[in-house]
Amino acid sequence: MRTTVGWAADAATATLQRVPLQRRALRPDDVAVRVDYCGVCHTDLHAVREHRGTENAPALVPGHEFTGVVTEVGPEVTGLAVGDSVAVGNIVDSCGVCAMCKAGQENFCHEFPTLTYGGTDRHDGTTTLGGYSREYVVREGFTYRLPEGLDPAAAAPLLCAGVTVWEPLHALDVGPGTRVAVAGLGGLGHLAVKLAVALGADTSVISRSRDKAADARRLGAHDLVISTDPEQLEANKERFDVVIDTISAPHDLAPYLKLVAMDGTLTQVGYLGPISVQTMDLLVGRKKLTSAGSGGRASTAALLDFCADHDVTADIELLPSADVDQALDRLARNDVRYRFVLDMSDLS
Ligand SMILES: NC(=O)c1ccc[n+]([C@@H]2O[C@H](COP(=O)([O-])OP(=O)(O)OC[C@H]3O[C@@H](n4cnc5c(N)ncnc54)[C@H](OP(=O)(O)O)[C@@H]3O)[C@@H](O)[C@H]2O)c1
Ligand SMILES: [Zn+2]
Ligand SMILES: [Zn+2]
Repeated sequence: MRTTVGWAADAATATLQRVPLQRRALRPDDVAVRVDYCGVCHTDLHAVREHRGTENAPALVPGHEFTGVVTEVGPEVTGLAVGDSVAVGNIVDSCGVCAMCKAGQENFCHEFPTLTYGGTDRHDGTTTLGGYSREYVVREGFTYRLPEGLDPAAAAPLLCAGVTVWEPLHALDVGPGTRVAVAGLGGLGHLAVKLAVALGADTSVISRSRDKAADARRLGAHDLVISTDPEQLEANKERFDVVIDTISAPHDLAPYLKLVAMDGTLTQVGYLGPISVQTMDLLVGRKKLTSAGSGGRASTAALLDFCADHDVTADIELLPSADVDQALDRLARNDVRYRFVLDMSDLS
């Protein structure tokens, strides 16, 4: 085992505490990564706030979008070397043999992919501890080379927020001429806007926040629809081929489905709990409702290349990792433009 240091959730106070952490000794196909930058995803906030620590419960160390540098490689590692800049996302292993894995959709592995934190390691059954930490040990196959030209801090959020919206954009053939709307302008939302714009789509934002209009335009969107204004919703009825819903809280889908054009799609990637839908809201216009999450290995690598080619990274506020509680509190208040990234160097 190797010892590092990181931020673990304390259930009693719902804050994070700096603690020593154990990482596994490298397996033959593992690399050790010095974590330099880790994004703060809303999923981390959900996890910390829902964490109920009991005496024997495993620690919760969040963080599943990070970049850093390889510091050691196992003997069977062939594609990475010490000193390489790399990135890791929200899955770190999968069965490798099921139909989903064979199709390059490790994120949908029939045996469930191993999550970067709160997952169960496939070999030793331990609970995985995330990237709010100075070091992570990970299989080479789930470690991505960070293309040159991408700022490692601003690129970190591509690994969860980015790929989560990238896969559906791709699957829905978003490109020149597609009318796309992104609901919820946060971490996922602002990257969905940038990626849709870079793909050539006619892109709009749907937000509760009128004060995000200038940001929406700066990100490349043509329009901002205020979701709390019934007149604006009516004026934009059936306007969009694709609506990507990144809203973090439970909400009624009906107003968003009304914005979808005939044969168009609402893809809900933000709130992942139970929802109820009126069939008539789908029937009228033969609309489709889908969801997605994370990314397969091939599409994650393709996203990083696309972002390097199109100069897409997240708009970030970089904080020392010691300010992680402040970042989570501000994220809970929707006070983020548009992703907090933790600088892990204060853990050395
Ligand atoms: N599918 C996946 O695999 C996956 C991956 C990562 C994250 N997620 C989930 O995606 C969601 C978004 O994550 P994020 O990191 O982008 O969060 P975020 O930065 O907090 O953004 C969420 C946005 O949703 C809007 N919003 C929040 N509360 C709302 C409410 N009550 N009603 C309407 N709109 C509301 C806000 O946009 P406006 O101010 O513009 O209204 C906010 O900026 C989270 O639930 C997260 O757990 C899913
Ligand atoms: Zn995430
Ligand atoms: Zn599988």
